[in-house]
Amino acid sequence: MSQRTLQIKALTVETQRQGQRVKLVDNLSLSVERGKVLALVGPSGSGKSLTCAASLDVLPPGTWRKAGVISIDGEVRSPSSLRGREVAVILQNPRSAFNPVRTMCSHAYETLHAIGADLPGWQERAAMAMIAAGLSEPQRIFDLYPFEMSGGMLQRMMIALALMSEAPFLFADEPTTDLDLIVQRDILDLLERLKQERGLGILLVTHDMGVVARLAEQVAVIDSGRIVEAAAVSDLFLRPVHPTTRQLIDAHLSLYGMEWAA
Ligand SMILES: Nc1ncnc2c1ncn2[C@@H]1O[C@H](COP(=O)(O)OP(=O)(O)OP(=O)(O)O)[C@@H](O)[C@H]1O
Ligand SMILES: [Mg+2]
Repeated sequence: MSQRTLQIKALTVETQRQGQRVKLVDNLSLSVERGKVLALVGPSGSGKSLTCAASLDVLPPGTWRKAGVISIDGEVRSPSSLRGREVAVILQNPRSAFNPVRTMCSHAYETLHAIGADLPGWQERAAMAMIAAGLSEPQRIFDLYPFEMSGGMLQRMMIALALMSEAPFLFADEPTTDLDLIVQRDILDLLERLKQERGLGILLVTHDMGVVARLAEQVAVIDSGRIVEAAAVSDLFLRPVHPTTRQLIDAHLSLYGMEWAA
């Protein structure tokens, strides 16, 4: 494994509201290690998706990166150069990630072309990634346009494209939101395998503390664009310090009819 650590340092994202600049992500720093999962958790609207987007230069219109540096093993990299090559990405809203006038085959080709892997046999490679992501009929799906696919199928296709890229890092923004429980479990199993077998370093955005407990080694809690707590998973569940963290864990425990042990 050549690359070991991806660091986001002092990231600030702004927008303009009523003539005033407002910070949506505020001086945020994170570190993602190969072979490990860092979970980024926090309330809705706290800046999780913008953190991922700003780190890869895919911010939505009306927002911009005011400050911040992304580096791999200490070497500063331009966010746009990381996308697809060093960092595969699973976005929160799968439909927005696909070009509506291009088939899945064309999307797969583009992904492989971007990394110079559009060699003879590329379709088999694409089909294998699609099967691994739970799309069992790749030849049929190759011919489909985004509007012919369900949200869950598009989510799995995005995961397949991420697998095809063979990037050492993955930013997964709510990767299982649109999926039924069985597929959710399969995707989480797949991420765990990729972490172990390929040494993938994963930044996992999720609301689900059950997913955090299962997959992550480290957790960062974000609220109003700032990291308010960062800890190893076991410490965070046993000794949450910040009120936002306690709320997230309370909500998780009450969902399963459980209470704090102490
Ligand atoms: N294009 C935009 N223009 C202006 N403000 C935006 C834009 N996109 C997001 N925001 C604001 O930035 C903040 C953070 O949004 P973000 O999408 O990162 O939240 P999130 O933590 O991913 O939430 P969720 O859990 O609901 O996905 C929110 O207050 C949101 O309203
Ligand atoms: Mg989001």
